[in-house]
Amino acid sequence: MGSTISVVNMKIVFIITAAATLAGCGGSDPPAQPDGALTTLTNAKDVPIDGLSADDVAKFHKGDDLFDVPFREVDGLGPLFIRSSCGACHSDGLRGPGLVQKMSVVTADGITASADQSELPFGHTLRQGLAAGAVTAITAPMAGDVKVSIRIGPPVLGRGYIEAVDDSEILRVAAAQAQRSDEIHGKVARVTFTSVPSGDGFSTYQTNDAVIGRFALKARIATLDDFSADAFQGDMGLTTPMRPTELPNPDGLTDDADPGIDLDQEHIDRVTFYLRRIAIPQRTGMTEAGAKLFDQVQCSGCHVASMHTRKDFPIPQLADIDAPIYTDLLLHDMGDALADGMVDGGADSRGWRTAPLIGLRFNTLFLHDGRASSVAGAIAAHAGEARASADAFAALSQTDRDTLIAFVEAL
Ligand code: HEC
Ligand code: HEC
Repeated sequence: MGSTISVVNMKIVFIITAAATLAGCGGSDPPAQPDGALTTLTNAKDVPIDGLSADDVAKFHKGDDLFDVPFREVDGLGPLFIRSSCGACHSDGLRGPGLVQKMSVVTADGITASADQSELPFGHTLRQGLAAGAVTAITAPMAGDVKVSIRIGPPVLGRGYIEAVDDSEILRVAAAQAQRSDEIHGKVARVTFTSVPSGDGFSTYQTNDAVIGRFALKARIATLDDFSADAFQGDMGLTTPMRPTELPNPDGLTDDADPGIDLDQEHIDRVTFYLRRIAIPQRTGMTEAGAKLFDQVQCSGCHVASMHTRKDFPIPQLADIDAPIYTDLLLHDMGDALADGMVDGGADSRGWRTAPLIGLRFNTLFLHDGRASSVAGAIAAHAGEARASADAFAALSQTDRDTLIAFVEAL
């Protein structure tokens, strides 16, 4: 895995260097760049949904460009950060190569989060990038009871479809699973909306509302604009009106080289405009035989082929449709080996949101930490609630396994 990451890394270094020469300067202004200057670097994997106006396609590409722009100290990067652009961890909207390391104090079993997390006064995320006078990174204490895990930046393709899914649909699927006689019993991710409302019409959530989470690997976030704000703050040390404060850090710094709130709401809106309109890549080579096997071994128990979307979702192409996202957006116990020791949102150590199966043929690494390098490897790592399904897959004939894998790779 290490070598794969470093090879991809060379590519991203090139992209960042190219983008850096185009990024302008200036406090809280968007990094200046000629319109469309980065479009030659925009790979066809993250294309806009069909039916957008020319104006919206242009806005999509502007958002995509901002997604790939590396921010600098003068833009307010830091005091601590992990990487300096969204694209560093979601290259072409796909998985990685950048990643986030997490840590958690665990009990003697090595996987259950301990009630006492005071060993980690600056939270559960390692942040090693230093800027704006910071001298102390957040690293994992050398203690046997601290479990460190990694999360590679997951793909962001088709996430607008996920945001559009009706809450009632998620509740309906969870209720249906609760009636099942087998192990598959997904849990709705209940989280608190900690951001401030953006007023963009995509949600009516108010600060501290109890809402259903659907984004991030443990579904701790409810909306894409909130996610953008969370990522700017947590991954890059860039504050915004939706997340106005710098996160606690060992040097006790409360600001950086760009005093006050680093970025405008416009930055969030531009990036989110792009995120909400990335298409699900054209699916080719899906066979009926593959779909049948996918059902037969109960992959479809969690990777639900489609979920219905809200009638009032503000993007008409995504409203009131069966969104083909191949996830139930629920949390499932995936067993001890995948457990990360983290309590995160409404999920515990073994709980993970069913991964959307979207654009899988572009992936080279699978599962939250990229431990599998093939679809077959990913299936073999399924345990907990998914154990029977993985066993049923293993018991298929070689031909049927190949047919099923070809189907999943076509998604
Ligand atoms: C240092 C790497 C890194 C950077 C930089 C980063 N991300 Fe992420 N991103 C991740 C990881 C890791 C996750 C999974 C987070 C979790 O489980 O808590 C994630 C999750 C997401 C998701 C949710 C995807 C899903 O399937 O639910 C979105 C959307 C997203 N990031 C957008 C962004 C945007 C926008 C930016 C820039 C403002 C950004 N990311 C910067 C690593 C990164
Ligand atoms: C009990 C629910 C459940 C069942 C049943 C299930 N999965 Fe999953 N699947 C998940 C979860 C949760 C993840 C994410 C785990 C992680 O990232 O650690 C996942 C991840 C994956 C991934 C990796 C996706 C990526 O982006 O890396 C693939 C591929 C996959 N599943 C295919 C299948 C197939 C094929 C079957 C049937 C043989 C199946 N799954 C059965 C819940 C399930």
